[in-house]
Parts: sequence; structure tokens; C-alpha cells
Amino acid sequence: MTHDGADNRPIGVFDSGLGGLTVVRELRRRAPGETIVYLGDSARVPYGTKSLATVRRFAREDAAFLLRFDPKLIVVACNTASAAAVDMLAETLPVDVVDVIRPGAAAALAATDGRIGVIATESTVASGAYQRALTAADAAREVLAAACPLLVPIVEEGRDEDDPIVLHVLSDYLRDMQRFRPEALVLGCTHYPLLARAIGKLMGPKVSLISSAAATAEAVCRRLVASGQIGDGSGALQCYTTDDAARFAALGRRFGGCDVGTVRTVGTDELERPAAAAAGDTWENAS
Ligand code: DGL
Repeated sequence: MTHDGADNRPIGVFDSGLGGLTVVRELRRRAPGETIVYLGDSARVPYGTKSLATVRRFAREDAAFLLRFDPKLIVVACNTASAAAVDMLAETLPVDVVDVIRPGAAAALAATDGRIGVIATESTVASGAYQRALTAADAAREVLAAACPLLVPIVEEGRDEDDPIVLHVLSDYLRDMQRFRPEALVLGCTHYPLLARAIGKLMGPKVSLISSAAATAEAVCRRLVASGQIGDGSGALQCYTTDDAARFAALGRRFGGCDVGTVRTVGTDELERPAAAAAGDTWENAS
């Protein structure tokens, strides 16, 4: 819906769970007038250990759910889904799609002329998406990408950053990265900014931590300004999860750094039905 030059249709954002809230937080800081509908597919997290075909199917279903709200743009706030499915989504969805990998890679290249490390899920690392995005811009760039599969379950479980188990797991994953001595380290999973303090402690103060969340939020705002689609609404956030809503709300508040408001559950069975099945389930009557 466009009123007086403002486009107050929502921005749709999805992730496999809580991690995409790091993108929502950055978006709300930069564009407080935007209404956001968020889907966290907590029932099927993690995506990062699943096959490409499965992640693509999940991403298609997540995006189809968000289309019910007539969004002006969809943010794939999940590196794993971005690596696997962003081109397919961009080709098939009737709205603009923003991923988290290109903005994250661009932010890392802007932060340093030196070595760049990337930590991400197994599937993101195996896809080579960050390595390609970084070396396409600068073929001589030294890049090391490391998979950290336990970090997503650790975040989804609500573990504190100072928890010895968290530090133990991180020390193990970051050993080779510490030897590589990057000047910038891309947190290539939207869950990882929630462990940024602990990661920063292990990597040392000279390493810039690059959150693709902030860079993605900036990319979204630039896109909306360029297309004249900035909203001037109330900045409402409506969250959906495919698992327990109370748990999502409690952890989202604690880790997302923002009040996630009322959280509703949508079953994965409903996501798996064709999008048309929920015709009439619009932003207006869902909030
Ligand atoms: N936050 C996701 C990412 O950015 C999730 C990973 C997962 O579900 O494994 O990759």
C-alpha cells in the first residue's frame, strides 16, 4: 500500500531460526518506519547441515509464506539460504530479494586490504559463496573460510557467551583462523553476531569483526531509497516461528536485542502447503 509517496508494505525477513533477528535489529535502527514480518523456521533449524536441495525447498516455502503479507522486499537473513537459493528466489519471486552474502563480502573488502577470514555453516563454506564474492572483487585476496557447525545450535539453545562450553567450542573452531591472522573476520552466519563478544575475545582486538547483518540492513535501505519505497509507518515487528512461540519470544528478546512483540506459530505443515492455501491471511488481519 502506498500513501503520500511512502510505501508502507512490510519488509519480509526469514532465517532458519533466531539469527535473522540480528538483521532485523540493524534494519530497525536504520529504518524505524518500516514494518517487518519475520519468519524464523526454528522447527527445521539448522539449515547449515542439510543438503542444497532441502535448503532450497525450505527457502522457497519460507519466502512463499512471507508473500502472503504483500511485502515490498524479502530479505534472506540466512547465509546458508542465501548461498543455496538467492538466485532461484530472485528469478522466481515477484518482489526484490536481498541476500546477506554480497553485503557481508563487500563490507569485509571495504574494511581491509589484507587477509579475510570467514566463519559460517558447513553448507555456506562448502558452497564457496563467500570465497567467490571476495575473490571476484579482488583475485589476489587471501581468504580462509572455516565451518563452525555447532555454533547455530549453541545460539538456538540460548547459551551465554561466557559459558565455558561456548568458549571451548569457539577455541577449537578458531584455532586455524588464529594462525591465519586475518585482518577482518566475516561472521558469515546471522547467528554468529550473537557470539561476537566471545569471538572477538579469541581473535584479539586487531581483527575487525564484520557482521553481514549491519551491511545487509544498509543494502536494504539503499535499495528502498533508490526505488522510492521507504516506509513511514509505525515500525511494527510481527514475528512468526515454526516452533514454540514463547521460547522464540524469550530467546529473541535476550539475543535479538529488540523486543520481538507477539510471536505466532505457523506449522511447517502450513509452510509446505502451496502459498495460495492461506489466501486472505494478510498483514492487516494477522496483526
Ligand atoms: N543463520 C543462518 C545462516 O546465516 C543459519 C544457519 C543454520 O540454520 O544452520 O547461515
